[in-house]
Amino acid sequence: MLSAVATFMLPRLAASDLMRTEAQSSQELVERLAFVERRAFETPIIRLAHEPVDLYAKLEFLNSVGSIKDRSAFWMLKRSIERGQVQPGTTIIESSSGNLARALAAFCKILGLPFIPVIDPLVSPINESFLRAHCQTVVKVAEQADDSGSYLKVRLQMVSRLLAEHVGTAYWTNQYANPDAMEAHYVLTAGEICRRLPNVDYVFIGVSSAGTVAGVSRRLKEHNPAIRIVAVDAEGSVIFGQPEKKRRIPGLGSSIKPSLLDHAAIDDVVIVNETDTIDACHLLLERHGLFVGGSTGTVYSAIRRYFPDRSRGRRPRVLFFCCDRGDAYLHNVYASSTPGATRTGANPRQVVDGRFARPASQRG
Ligand SMILES: Cc1ncc(COP(=O)(O)O)c(C=O)c1O
Repeated sequence: MLSAVATFMLPRLAASDLMRTEAQSSQELVERLAFVERRAFETPIIRLAHEPVDLYAKLEFLNSVGSIKDRSAFWMLKRSIERGQVQPGTTIIESSSGNLARALAAFCKILGLPFIPVIDPLVSPINESFLRAHCQTVVKVAEQADDSGSYLKVRLQMVSRLLAEHVGTAYWTNQYANPDAMEAHYVLTAGEICRRLPNVDYVFIGVSSAGTVAGVSRRLKEHNPAIRIVAVDAEGSVIFGQPEKKRRIPGLGSSIKPSLLDHAAIDDVVIVNETDTIDACHLLLERHGLFVGGSTGTVYSAIRRYFPDRSRGRRPRVLFFCCDRGDAYLHNVYASSTPGATRTGANPRQVVDGRFARPASQRG
């Protein structure tokens, strides 16, 4: 028992010391990074009962901090430390109110690096609490959102100001343009798929910074050129050239076109509105027992629309990611007052043998 515990300890520091002290040398930073790496593991791929395809969900919410962004955060830190761009005492800066900020906050705490997340008023209460609990400085922009309700441009301006204040002592992970974010998914996420589900026919991937779709699509197309990659975006996002519109559910979409998208190999694009996203999140819980965040609902809705009928011949094998859990979306996706939350209130539906039916009391 003792030896099992010992294998999870750092060579020179007890885990409790890690949380408080700055790394004293580059060598110690590398040792702490190895500790973070040992906490990373492959996430399960499970089969869901779904017609007319063989549907597989990769449970990325089981990553140690809770989302698919653990992979990009870890890899961006790892590569910047290996290149010597991040050293003991370097301040990490990123514009994120969501999963990436959470993952960076947790990993930077272990590494003993200060992390400043730049967040905005749309941050979910649970994410803001998480960041304030783990970061000494959290910068929340107060300026007006742009016409589409997005704060991305304001947040990026704030990042520039912070970098100017910390010249030579800060590193901006820059998720929208950092090739390391794409490489994370090429090596880690897609590497697991090649090993565990090598004969998948379709992969549906939600897009925001485009790191996931770029890394996964490139690796899987190398592995199997016939594979189909379907990108999924939220209505109102500009990534695939649609008109910009106010979006309320964070996770997917963007008010800028991310440069990492140029590296992606995409066969089809499906755009999903917020009402369908919310319905699909509820369906995932009711039919499949998965309590997931908005982006997973968006992608599940796209899959349902893409394969509407029973297919003839071989059933395609379809994979998607459950990127995070639903907790941070209780106030929007899972709030009954949100548009599209149709199954609360007067006419609730029940699941009977996997199909929806009205309760007996309401049948005519
Ligand atoms: C929950 C969730 N799903 C999907 C994505 C999209 O991933 P990417 O930024 O790699 O395009 C994000 C990005 O923030 C996310 O938070």
